[in-house]
Amino acid sequence: MTATVQIVGAGPGAPDLLTLRAARAIEAAEVLVWTDSLVSPRIAALAPRDCESVRTSSLTLEEVMAVVLERARAGRRVVRLHDGDPCLYGAIQEQICRLADAGVAVEVVPGLSAYQATAAALGAELTIPGLVQTIVLSRAGGRTGMPERESLARLAALQASLCLYLSARHVEEVEAELLQHYPPDTPVAIGYRVSWPDQWLTVVPLETIARVSRERNLIRTTLYVVSPALRADQAARSLLYSPSHNHLFRGGAG
Ligand SMILES: C[S@@+](CC[C@H](N)C(=O)[O-])C[C@H]1O[C@@H](n2cnc3c(N)ncnc32)[C@H](O)[C@@H]1O
Repeated sequence: MTATVQIVGAGPGAPDLLTLRAARAIEAAEVLVWTDSLVSPRIAALAPRDCESVRTSSLTLEEVMAVVLERARAGRRVVRLHDGDPCLYGAIQEQICRLADAGVAVEVVPGLSAYQATAAALGAELTIPGLVQTIVLSRAGGRTGMPERESLARLAALQASLCLYLSARHVEEVEAELLQHYPPDTPVAIGYRVSWPDQWLTVVPLETIARVSRERNLIRTTLYVVSPALRADQAARSLLYSPSHNHLFRGGAG
């Protein structure tokens, strides 16, 4: 039988935001190789008690793959657990290539990404008709760098809903680049560990994101959602569909 490794998205942090497929994979794991710098320990704890747990935050790719391949070849059920959705900044391509080279099959199980959890926590839609219809998922370059055509200033020119991962350490440059196109008062949601018990989430004007981030000492597990949609008049819009609105106009004005 061909060995298979499951690459599983753990979602943003709350265990009840796992997909059913992800939860089942973790609950059946014999070896859990997990990104402990970003995945909630509450999710890793869903693995069976006798499951071997391997934390990857201090390992190189070569060390991770040695464990994964050795256990998979031995016929053990290996789950490689990444935060959010694995397709976004999950560094899974290099793992999939090595697994393919070794003749090991891969199944990827999707997860809820941080931007979705953040929008949900805000109770917000990021695509408002007539205002903004595009969501961009990107990041500050940092050490990884960005292709010039995807520079933040260029992305900002779209004035779309822009979700920035891995950017807290570079927030001063981020703010400066985005201000080239977005108005200074554009609302930005700053979400730290969204859906974790210590979640911190606020919406501030773009021109203050560097200061606010530094004041909170945000370095890791922070997402920025820059979006004109967050300025939409929520109260007025929701009234259109609320029971009290119907009561007022249908019942009262008759
Ligand atoms: C290596 S990337 C992986 C992203 C992940 N694959 C996803 O789809 O959400 C890690 C970055 O995702 C963002 N992130 C992940 N989980 C988060 C959460 N619960 N709250 C806020 N940001 C989060 C942060 O920007 C963090 O630095």
